[in-house]
Amino acid sequence: MNDSVDPLKNGVVLAEIGSHSNGPWCAKYGAGSALVVLGTFIVDARDDVPYPPDFVFKPGRENYGDYLNEHVVAARDSGAAVGVSVISVNLDDTIDFLLAAQQAGADYLSLCIHSSMEMFVSEGLGVALLQRENWPKLEEQVTTILEATDRLFIPKFGVSGGDDAEEAVEVMAAVGVSIFHINVGDAAGEHGSQVINRLRRRGRVLIIGGGIRTSQQACEVIAAGADAVAIASAAMDDPNLCGRIQATLPGR
Ligand SMILES: Cc1cc2nc3c(=O)[nH]c(=O)nc-3n(C[C@H](O)[C@H](O)[C@H](O)COP(=O)(O)O)c2cc1C
Repeated sequence: MNDSVDPLKNGVVLAEIGSHSNGPWCAKYGAGSALVVLGTFIVDARDDVPYPPDFVFKPGRENYGDYLNEHVVAARDSGAAVGVSVISVNLDDTIDFLLAAQQAGADYLSLCIHSSMEMFVSEGLGVALLQRENWPKLEEQVTTILEATDRLFIPKFGVSGGDDAEEAVEVMAAVGVSIFHINVGDAAGEHGSQVINRLRRRGRVLIIGGGIRTSQQACEVIAAGADAVAIASAAMDDPNLCGRIQATLPGR
């Protein structure tokens, strides 16, 4: 791990929960974690985006610059590093939003490749970016983000087995991505440890989530080779969960 990845080692990541993950929410529910991720935010010019309105911005710095300044600072009260996650049908809008997040002081920038919303999938984006036929677009998105920004970049996506997602990790690694946030569905289960194993052998830095609710599960996922564990659903039920689990992980 290089220095900038090191802060995540054996850490808890409060994963994106689009509708909840704004600055104050992350400060409370991610307190004591290694990383909290704001968003996912959608940048889109249309009025009828089927997503919580607080998390949708029209394109243009004037529409989200102040928000990001305020919420990245608020999220710092968690004591964790702060990431910002975005998705847009327009790559220029994605880049501008991530640059605004960087300017607001975000430590990590994330592209949501996890969305199954029709407005993204129909454009070969969201989860569709992982499909083999869309890998040229995946490469373009990732390369453009890496060239335009100077914070660590974390693509976030799901791997359910039997699809192209795991191989898409290699596509992203080939253009310079070093950290991957992967929802494996059942992180502490058999499928989770198999995915971790395969990707670890290739030297990937992994934030792994999916179904983690207890310290024991988190420790198992770390023991299986994940660098950090991500928690979403269980954190929504208990604002102290992430910090409590973090305190039990080795070496922190
Ligand atoms: C209500 C809810 C909203 C979510 N919103 C997002 C999102 O906006 N972006 C994203 O990448 N993942 C989102 N996720 C997925 C979570 O970040 C996480 O990867 C997934 O729920 C698996 O972790 P868990 O089992 O701990 O919930 C959401 C999950 C839930 C339950």
